[in-house]
Amino acid sequence: MSAPLSEELKSHTAAAHSRAEEATFVAELMGGKRDAAALASLLAQSLVIYRALEKAQTAHVDHPQLGGFIDAKLDRVAALEADMAFHYGADWEAQLAGGRIAIAPATVAYAELLDTLGRESAEFILAHHYVRYMGDLSGGQIIASLVQRHYGIPAEGLNFYHFAAIEKTKPYKDAYRERLDGADFTRTQKDAILAYAADSFELNRAVFVDLGTLLGAPAVRA
Ligand code: HEM
Repeated sequence: MSAPLSEELKSHTAAAHSRAEEATFVAELMGGKRDAAALASLLAQSLVIYRALEKAQTAHVDHPQLGGFIDAKLDRVAALEADMAFHYGADWEAQLAGGRIAIAPATVAYAELLDTLGRESAEFILAHHYVRYMGDLSGGQIIASLVQRHYGIPAEGLNFYHFAAIEKTKPYKDAYRERLDGADFTRTQKDAILAYAADSFELNRAVFVDLGTLLGAPAVRA
């Protein structure tokens, strides 16, 4: 008997999770060594990624196993667009389209993958759905409180981390894990989901590494 999928996912991705968590840019951002502009740049990358993820997942709303995970309460694009207006001003969309808001190569590559493989493979989308949304409902809450404290960013600039339609994150995450464990995935599907989830952490870590390069070293290194 194999372990429930939620446990397999957590254990299979634990090392990749630590590598992403320990990415220098993330550690500096959470350690107060960066600034509000660095957080704004991270949000801009997230907007590109979530626009691709939330577009690709629409191809799977009727999927017998994946459909149940797709939940408007999780959607991040509108929250990210509000954050973009806060950090970059009302004409942020024109700035983005005009290349005046830097989008890292790793972000573009990640979004392209979501756009292509994401439409074809339900297993691929579920893996990224789990890594991103369960991550935002977990570590994301920690990041929000740290950047608020270190850089004085008000809630108006941190909508991405606030799931307005989810009252309590823990019961939501527990129900998400139950849904993972209750879905009748074959062994082959599970192995694909596990592999894609580990890749997803690496794709996210690559965005952090690129951002560190793009923004240059912080004024004061730890
Ligand atoms: C940046 C620093 C990060 C911190 C401090 C952090 C912290 C945490 C913590 C405390 C949990 C456990 C929550 C629980 O058991 O309920 C967690 C879970 C998780 N994190 Fe992170 N995390 C970070 C980065 C990331 C990143 C970059 C991703 C992916 C992009 C991510 C994805 C996840 C996922 C998918 C889970 C859920 C694991 C599960 O319960 O199945 N985390 N994180």
